[in-house]
Amino acid sequence: MTYVITENCIKCKYTDCVEVCPVDCFHEGPNFLVINPDECIDCSLCVPECPIDAIISDEDITDDNRNFLELNERLSKKWPILTEFKDAPEDAKEWENKENKLQFLEE
Ligand code: SF4
Ligand code: F3S
Repeated sequence: MTYVITENCIKCKYTDCVEVCPVDCFHEGPNFLVINPDECIDCSLCVPECPIDAIISDEDITDDNRNFLELNERLSKKWPILTEFKDAPEDAKEWENKENKLQFLEE
Protein backbone atom coordinates (compact mmCIF):
# COMPACT_ATOMS: atom_id res chain seq x y z
CA MET A 1 0.00 0.00 0.00
CA THR A 2 1.09 3.57 -0.63
CA TYR A 3 -0.30 7.06 -0.84
CA VAL A 4 -0.39 8.76 -4.23
CA ILE A 5 -0.41 12.40 -5.32
CA THR A 6 -3.01 13.04 -7.99
CA GLU A 7 -3.85 15.59 -10.67
CA ASN A 8 -5.06 18.45 -8.48
CA CYS A 9 -1.51 19.06 -7.24
CA ILE A 10 -0.33 20.02 -10.74
CA LYS A 11 0.41 23.78 -10.89
CA CYS A 12 -0.76 24.22 -7.25
CA LYS A 13 2.12 22.49 -5.40
CA TYR A 14 1.32 23.92 -1.97
CA THR A 15 3.95 21.70 -0.22
CA ASP A 16 2.07 21.67 3.13
CA CYS A 17 2.33 17.90 2.84
CA VAL A 18 6.10 17.43 2.97
CA GLU A 19 7.04 18.37 6.52
CA VAL A 20 4.81 15.81 8.26
CA CYS A 21 6.25 12.83 6.40
CA PRO A 22 8.28 10.66 8.81
CA VAL A 23 10.24 9.01 6.02
CA ASP A 24 10.87 11.99 3.68
CA CYS A 25 9.42 10.34 0.62
CA PHE A 26 8.14 13.41 -1.24
CA HIS A 27 9.93 14.35 -4.45
CA GLU A 28 9.64 17.70 -6.21
CA GLY A 29 9.35 18.40 -9.92
CA PRO A 30 8.84 21.75 -11.69
CA ASN A 31 5.08 21.98 -11.01
CA PHE A 32 4.05 18.78 -9.17
CA LEU A 33 5.09 16.58 -6.26
CA VAL A 34 5.12 12.79 -6.11
CA ILE A 35 5.44 10.16 -3.36
CA ASN A 36 7.96 7.33 -3.60
CA PRO A 37 5.79 4.20 -3.17
CA ASP A 38 8.78 2.14 -2.03
CA GLU A 39 9.40 4.47 0.92
CA CYS A 40 5.86 5.49 1.96
CA ILE A 41 4.83 3.72 5.19
CA ASP A 42 1.11 4.43 4.75
CA CYS A 43 0.84 6.61 7.84
CA SER A 44 -1.68 8.96 6.14
CA LEU A 45 -0.34 12.03 8.02
CA CYS A 46 0.07 13.98 4.78
CA VAL A 47 -3.52 13.54 3.60
CA PRO A 48 -5.19 16.25 5.77
CA GLU A 49 -2.29 18.65 5.16
CA CYS A 50 -3.10 19.11 1.47
CA PRO A 51 -5.62 21.98 1.20
CA ILE A 52 -6.94 20.66 -2.13
CA ASP A 53 -7.20 16.94 -1.31
CA ALA A 54 -4.65 15.84 -3.89
CA ILE A 55 -3.27 12.92 -1.84
CA ILE A 56 -5.16 9.63 -1.78
CA SER A 57 -4.56 6.04 -0.79
CA ASP A 58 -3.82 3.64 -3.62
CA GLU A 59 -6.86 1.73 -2.38
CA ASP A 60 -9.01 4.64 -3.56
CA ILE A 61 -7.52 4.81 -7.04
CA THR A 62 -10.10 4.65 -9.84
CA ASP A 63 -9.77 4.06 -13.57
CA ASP A 64 -9.73 7.86 -14.02
CA ASN A 65 -6.57 8.40 -11.98
CA ARG A 66 -4.80 5.04 -12.20
CA ASN A 67 -2.08 6.66 -14.33
CA PHE A 68 -0.94 8.61 -11.26
CA LEU A 69 0.29 5.39 -9.64
CA GLU A 70 2.81 5.02 -12.46
CA LEU A 71 3.66 8.74 -12.44
CA ASN A 72 4.44 8.75 -8.69
CA GLU A 73 6.59 5.67 -9.00
CA ARG A 74 8.49 6.80 -12.10
CA LEU A 75 9.02 10.48 -11.25
CA SER A 76 10.08 9.79 -7.65
CA LYS A 77 13.11 8.01 -9.11
CA LYS A 78 13.97 11.09 -11.15
CA TRP A 79 13.13 14.11 -8.96
CA PRO A 80 14.93 15.26 -5.77
CA ILE A 81 13.49 14.83 -2.27
CA LEU A 82 11.68 17.84 -0.77
CA THR A 83 11.38 18.03 3.04
CA GLU A 84 10.70 21.72 3.70
CA PHE A 85 7.67 23.86 2.95
CA LYS A 86 8.14 26.40 0.19
CA ASP A 87 5.89 29.07 -1.28
CA ALA A 88 3.36 27.87 -3.84
CA PRO A 89 3.35 29.29 -7.38
CA GLU A 90 1.82 32.79 -7.47
CA ASP A 91 -1.11 31.62 -9.59
CA ALA A 92 -1.75 28.42 -7.60
CA LYS A 93 -5.24 29.53 -6.48
CA GLU A 94 -6.37 29.90 -10.10
CA TRP A 95 -5.47 26.27 -10.78
CA GLU A 96 -7.28 24.71 -7.83
CA ASN A 97 -9.72 21.99 -8.88
CA LYS A 98 -9.26 22.71 -12.61
CA GLU A 99 -9.90 19.67 -14.80
CA ASN A 100 -7.48 18.14 -17.31
CA LYS A 101 -4.31 19.54 -15.75
CA LEU A 102 -2.24 16.51 -16.66
CA GLN A 103 -1.38 18.13 -20.01
CA PHE A 104 0.52 20.82 -18.07
CA LEU A 105 2.68 18.43 -16.06
CA GLU A 106 6.34 19.29 -16.55
CA GLU A 107 8.64 16.36 -16.09
FE1 SF4 B 1 4.81 10.18 4.04
FE2 SF4 B 1 2.91 9.01 5.54
FE3 SF4 B 1 2.22 10.54 3.46
FE4 SF4 B 1 3.38 8.15 3.03
S1 SF4 B 1 1.36 8.51 3.96
S2 SF4 B 1 3.87 10.09 1.99
S3 SF4 B 1 4.78 8.04 4.77
S4 SF4 B 1 3.26 11.24 5.31
FE1 F3S C 1 0.57 19.09 -3.84
FE2 F3S C 1 -1.16 19.25 -1.88
FE3 F3S C 1 1.32 18.61 -1.34
S1 F3S C 1 -1.04 20.60 -3.64
S2 F3S C 1 2.46 19.69 -2.90
S3 F3S C 1 -0.09 17.41 -2.57
S4 F3S C 1 0.01 19.96 -0.14
